Amino acid sequence: MKISNLTTRLNIKAVGIVLVFMLFFSIYHQWAAYEEKMANSAQFMEKYTAYLARTLPIQFLSEAAEYQGIAEQSPEEQVLLLNSKLQPAMNNVYIPSSAAKFGIYSTRLQRIVAIGPNSDKALLAIDDSQKFGDLFHKDTATLGRQDNSVLWYGAQILYFVRPIQYRDEIIGYIFICNNMDKIKAEMLGAYKKTLLGGSVALIVVIMLFQEIFIRLKEELTLFADAIVEGRGKDFQSDIAELNPLLQYISEQTDRMARLDRLNIIGEMAASIGHEVRNPLTTVRGFLQYIGNKQNFESYKSHFLLMIEELDRANAIISDFLSLAKNRAMNFKEGHLNTIIREVTPLLEADTLRYNCQLELDLQDIPLLRLDENSLRQLILNIVRNGIEAMPQGGKLKISTSSFASTVLLTFRDEGGGIPAEVIDKLGTPFFTTKDNGVGLGLAVCYRIVDRHNANMTIENLPEGGAKFTITFKR
Ligand SMILES: Nc1ncnc2c1ncn2[C@@H]1O[C@H](COP(=O)(O)OP(=O)(O)OP(=O)(O)O)[C@@H](O)[C@H]1O
Ligand SMILES: [Mg+2]
Repeated sequence: MKISNLTTRLNIKAVGIVLVFMLFFSIYHQWAAYEEKMANSAQFMEKYTAYLARTLPIQFLSEAAEYQGIAEQSPEEQVLLLNSKLQPAMNNVYIPSSAAKFGIYSTRLQRIVAIGPNSDKALLAIDDSQKFGDLFHKDTATLGRQDNSVLWYGAQILYFVRPIQYRDEIIGYIFICNNMDKIKAEMLGAYKKTLLGGSVALIVVIMLFQEIFIRLKEELTLFADAIVEGRGKDFQSDIAELNPLLQYISEQTDRMARLDRLNIIGEMAASIGHEVRNPLTTVRGFLQYIGNKQNFESYKSHFLLMIEELDRANAIISDFLSLAKNRAMNFKEGHLNTIIREVTPLLEADTLRYNCQLELDLQDIPLLRLDENSLRQLILNIVRNGIEAMPQGGKLKISTSSFASTVLLTFRDEGGGIPAEVIDKLGTPFFTTKDNGVGLGLAVCYRIVDRHNANMTIENLPEGGAKFTITFKR
């Protein structure tokens, strides 16, 4: 398969499409303009001949006038005489087109006797006898086309001929004609100019596009490098409009990387968790059994310690198992506030032990589809982290609120906040900064949040402490 550069490919496509479109559109436009011009011309010619018939001194054509002493002269002389009476009026007629001619034809003399807007003696000299075709042999006003017209020395014309009647007899014609060859040439000239202008504009647009594409490509390459090097979040593009999108991509990449890690760990958890727990349970049972024997009375405290450690190991495995991707969940319509109130005694016991206070601010929120057990776990894990972050004591606040179609669950503590180098690693299984921490608490929370189709954000508060916000969609 031939691989070509995106910008080149786009440009070729863009040029091709725009050119075809331009050509198609301009040809169609040209054709429509020509048709319209012809229709307008026809209308104009009809009106104009009527106007000429009213204003020109055509009475000179009538027999009465013609026979006043001129009948015995030769036809050429008669034409010149008539012309001398008609032509001055012709010269005064204004016609708004350089491609139009008008005039008067005498049936008796079979010649044109006056021509405008510029007098043309050569035309006056032409003795008709079919030279003008059937132009001056009509009974009624007629619109028509004539190729190779003598009137315009071989050009194609669009004409309008109006008979002049005198005592029920046609004594002549008023005609007007448009040189279509000239009109076509004029239109073609204008068309070429438009096409040239359009092509220049197209080239400019393409160059601009090319520039934009190159800039975009450069920025995206830099962004891709930043993502690979883990600096995606801090990347700031020079193209300000791109930043929200890049920020979003970077967040999603982080989220996907985290999910990926969770999935791998989860799959491992599912397969080995049970296997480890079973022997532990057996050992615990034996320890309890032997520890209760009289002979080992003096080692009782050691046995209790061993059992406690085994319980701790078991708890870790339970946490680990809850990371499993396909762990069964039991989703029901439930009230988040109720779940929080139910675990409050447990939380208070914890907070009191560490000299902390718990504060609840639970607002009216709608029902959500929740797995109660895992949410309890989530609340306990986050609250425990908060307490552990405040060894000197402090206040831990849990609040719920609803906003548009979302429900927010937030936890605020007054601890030291989360260091910048830690914040990106949160949720990685077994990542901990605590001496006796396991590093599964937040990994489990992320999994629970994900299974609820919710989203968790973690930030440091300006006044100190950390804030965890879980956003549920209704
Ligand atoms: N509220 C908080 N304030 C400051 N740091 C926090 C807070 N919550 C979490 N952290 C940091 O995140 C790390 C990971 O937390 P996580 O709950 O996943 O594990 P852990 O608390 O260390 O161990 P455990 O598995 O026992 O919960 C913690 O070690 C701590 O450095
Ligand atoms: Mg923890």
